[in-house]
Amino acid sequence: MVKQLEETVNYLKNKGFDKADVGIVLGTGLGKIVDDIEDSITAHYHHIPHFPLSTVEFHSGKLIYGTLYGKKVVVMQGRFHHYEGYDFFEITYPIRAMAGLGVKNFFISNAAGAINTSYNKGELMMLDDHINLQGGSPLAFKEVSAFGERFVDMYQPYDPELSKKALSVAENKGIKLHKGVYAAVVGPQLETRAEYRYLKIIGADAVGMSTIPEVIVANQLKIPVLAISVLTDECDPDNLQPVSVQDIIATAAKAEPQMITLFEELIRNLS
Ligand code: HPA
Repeated sequence: MVKQLEETVNYLKNKGFDKADVGIVLGTGLGKIVDDIEDSITAHYHHIPHFPLSTVEFHSGKLIYGTLYGKKVVVMQGRFHHYEGYDFFEITYPIRAMAGLGVKNFFISNAAGAINTSYNKGELMMLDDHINLQGGSPLAFKEVSAFGERFVDMYQPYDPELSKKALSVAENKGIKLHKGVYAAVVGPQLETRAEYRYLKIIGADAVGMSTIPEVIVANQLKIPVLAISVLTDECDPDNLQPVSVQDIIATAAKAEPQMITLFEELIRNLS
């Protein structure tokens, strides 16, 4: 498996990919940031050796290397979810590949439902902590020790320095940025009222279907992570309204300019 990863990284290096200040995982609500990448090199997932096999939806999945707001970045356009049938090793394989290239930080975005009733849809939440309800770990495989520690400490999964910077950028730019606990479920169905009630009781502020596997692997590799959710719907079990994936995507699109501003300022100010 380590050899496979070396082959993946060598392929990317031969294409011109190199060290980068940030590895960015684009979730719903940050897609347009790719328009700002300069001098880019693109590798399609289906051409990268040992990358997870693409489903039909993923034919557009690509890894992009270039300059963004003055910094070198590797951007994952199209991420893998457990609900699509990928296992946790596959989901996090691109994180290992980016780390192999020498990425110094990870920035991750996603769309999430707001469990905390004082949060409104369209607002952003920075992940301060998380609850993994996906029923598996990206570190639960035989050869894990070849990739780093097995019993990874998760006492501070999100980097405090990056978090502090994100809060200060948000304040300067007049962007409302909550700080909370993200719970990841498998999906793809949304939650029942009883499940939202349960998520609230166990301490979640937001719920989504991604991000935690990538964050666990970044922690194993000791690479600082910042993750931001765009809150796309309000999940109050006592007043639940019907919501469709189209609504979720539309709300994420509305919040996209704020998310991009936040990422832009953070990237510009990276030391
Ligand atoms: N659950 C509920 N609402 C959501 C989710 C989710 O996983 N993702 C985005 N909105």
